[in-house]
Amino acid sequence: MRFLRLGAAVGSIVSITTASPTCPIDGPAFPKPLRPSQNEAVKAAVATLKDVFANVTAKAQNYSISVQVFSANEPEPLFSLSHTAPSLASQNSTGVKTVDENTVFRLGSLTKIYTIYSFLINAGDKHWDEPVTKYVPELQALANRSDPVNYVAWDEITLGGLATQLTGIPREYQKPPCGAYPTCDRAQFFNGISSFYPSLAPFQTPAYSNVAFQLLGYSLETITGKTFQTLMQETVIKPLGLNNTFLKAPEDSRGVIPGDHYETGWAFDIGESVATGNMYASAKDVSTLGRAILSHKLLSPVATRRWLKPFAFSSDPLAMVGMPWGARRIKLEDTYRYTTAFNKAGNIGDYSALLAILPDFDIGFTVLVAGELPGNVGFGLADTLGEPILPAIEEAARAEAGAKYSGRYVYPNNKINSSMTITTDELPGLSISQWFSNGTDFAWIATVLQNQYYPVTPRIRLYPSGLEGPAENGGKRVAFKAMFEDADAPRNNNKMFSTECGSWVSIESVIYGSAAMDELIFNLDSSGKVTSVTSPSLRVTLDKK
Ligand SMILES: *[C@@H]1O[C@H](CO)[C@@H](O)[C@H](O)[C@H]1NC(C)=O
Ligand SMILES: *[C@@H]1O[C@H](CO)[C@@H](O)[C@H](O)[C@H]1NC(C)=O
Ligand SMILES: *[C@@H]1O[C@H](CO)[C@@H](O)[C@H](O)[C@H]1NC(C)=O
Ligand SMILES: *[C@@H]1O[C@H](CO)[C@@H](O)[C@H](O)[C@H]1NC(C)=O
Ligand SMILES: *[C@@H]1O[C@H](CO)[C@@H](O)[C@H](O)[C@H]1NC(C)=O
Ligand SMILES: *[C@@H]1O[C@H](CO)[C@@H](O)[C@H](O)[C@H]1NC(C)=O
Ligand SMILES: *[C@@H]1O[C@H](CO)[C@@H](O)[C@H](O)[C@H]1NC(C)=O
Repeated sequence: MRFLRLGAAVGSIVSITTASPTCPIDGPAFPKPLRPSQNEAVKAAVATLKDVFANVTAKAQNYSISVQVFSANEPEPLFSLSHTAPSLASQNSTGVKTVDENTVFRLGSLTKIYTIYSFLINAGDKHWDEPVTKYVPELQALANRSDPVNYVAWDEITLGGLATQLTGIPREYQKPPCGAYPTCDRAQFFNGISSFYPSLAPFQTPAYSNVAFQLLGYSLETITGKTFQTLMQETVIKPLGLNNTFLKAPEDSRGVIPGDHYETGWAFDIGESVATGNMYASAKDVSTLGRAILSHKLLSPVATRRWLKPFAFSSDPLAMVGMPWGARRIKLEDTYRYTTAFNKAGNIGDYSALLAILPDFDIGFTVLVAGELPGNVGFGLADTLGEPILPAIEEAARAEAGAKYSGRYVYPNNKINSSMTITTDELPGLSISQWFSNGTDFAWIATVLQNQYYPVTPRIRLYPSGLEGPAENGGKRVAFKAMFEDADAPRNNNKMFSTECGSWVSIESVIYGSAAMDELIFNLDSSGKVTSVTSPSLRVTLDKK
């Protein structure tokens, strides 16, 4: 236990009137919702989206849309809408006449997510700290050149750096006779990049690069001894049953082609740059990919968690750079309640695509558009989808958690005066609104121990720890972390170094009877019903009434 000087310091200057905000640990505030489509708030949000999209499609005279909101835990999308541009009828299109969820669009740089997925499935993330010179023979000859201003320091460029866009190598290579069109062959490409100037120092700051993903594709081929195309087909497309996903342009009849099939960019093959932007897919298939990532179909849960993290800051404090997701911090209702969307957009020819996944809720958004596109249409539609859906999905998560865990937990046969009451309210996480241990007010004691002063107004919130395991009789044990906050703590916001929300530092800071006081394990029976809660530190199991 930590040394405690009761009554020292700040307790006496607390103002009772200004409550301090909750400080949830980053990540899900509730277990991920398993049946969001059944939730009334989600149903209302979907109804709102139908109205909003009536206006969106009325304006979309010259572009087609296929969007979905999906949950990894339900087979049908929460919301799905496809719109055919009225102008398509007069464009003599060789593609579909009517757009639906199986219509194929070009994905542009959304391809990069498929590339990383394939890399992680086939090679794993153990290669991230290795230099690209190890796997791309053409670069070996270029390593160790002395002038960092004129030459890329290829031996400092790691595979992980390429994946996270942190290498500072240029965005594109193009110099006559090749580039965007006609495309460069492999020899021309390496001949070209042997002489391009670096853009930024490696690992200085993220900068978007298509060249990086071409090199990552080549590296994967060396590591596995297989072609990029074979790996994508055999280890991503086939196992996930993505019948409408392609590395090269499929038959015109599958796609939306808003005009001539070359002029729209439909039939243009980017050749050696395939790993950076050549893929095609339907909205349904993009959602299936998002679900597969969130539900760990092809990667283990821990490999997925390592992937879905930010790796660098960007100029926008709410927008971090992942691999190569944009990691967007989205504020929910409470002061320090943020969730993170991992999103990747792509633009090529007359096409724009976006996939956003939110692991905190196991949900995602797919946006595919084609035609004469207004500016920012992909992210704009994601804003439109997210605005009603995110508060509703948090509500669905809260409602499911409340239905499962809320209630009164008591010592078996009431032999001693130990009990706990769990509820949900408007704040993030489950609330422990009352906790007695053998006749003492443990909620108060725990909060004083955590904060090291009194008086306190205990506010105890529980958040998922991500730890679950089997129990006897086919049941399950689900562990949560408790945060013991003083609801009347003085505000300490807007300071240079001080924070009033440092919960990650205080996790497990109080050990009581050689176990962490903030650990609570719920015991579930084989039907998923909560039967009791165990506090390892108090060595007690309280039965759910
Ligand atoms: C749709 O547009 C009309 C006319 O601009 C507007 O009055 C209405 O509020 C809009 N509906 C929605 C759901 O945005
Ligand atoms: C659609 O395209 C037509 C023909 O190019 C143009 O006249 C019209 O203004 C466009 N409509 C919108 C809403 O952009
Ligand atoms: C479509 O085909 C018709 C008949 O061949 C032609 O008159 C028209 O100009 C074509 N429209 C476009 C947009 O190419
Ligand atoms: C670059 O120099 C380092 C340090 O001398 C050496 O370990 C490495 O093998 C060199 N790389 C190449 C590709 O020559
Ligand atoms: C893909 O096609 C195969 C063969 O036609 C079919 O059995 C399978 O159900 C399809 N998968 C999906 C996800 O549509
Ligand atoms: C509960 O408290 C009583 C009185 O302080 C004590 O005698 C008893 O051992 C305690 N019981 C447990 C299970 O801790
Ligand atoms: C149990 O302990 C709490 C906390 O000390 C006390 O408020 C409550 O009255 C006690 N209940 C009983 C039945 O003794």
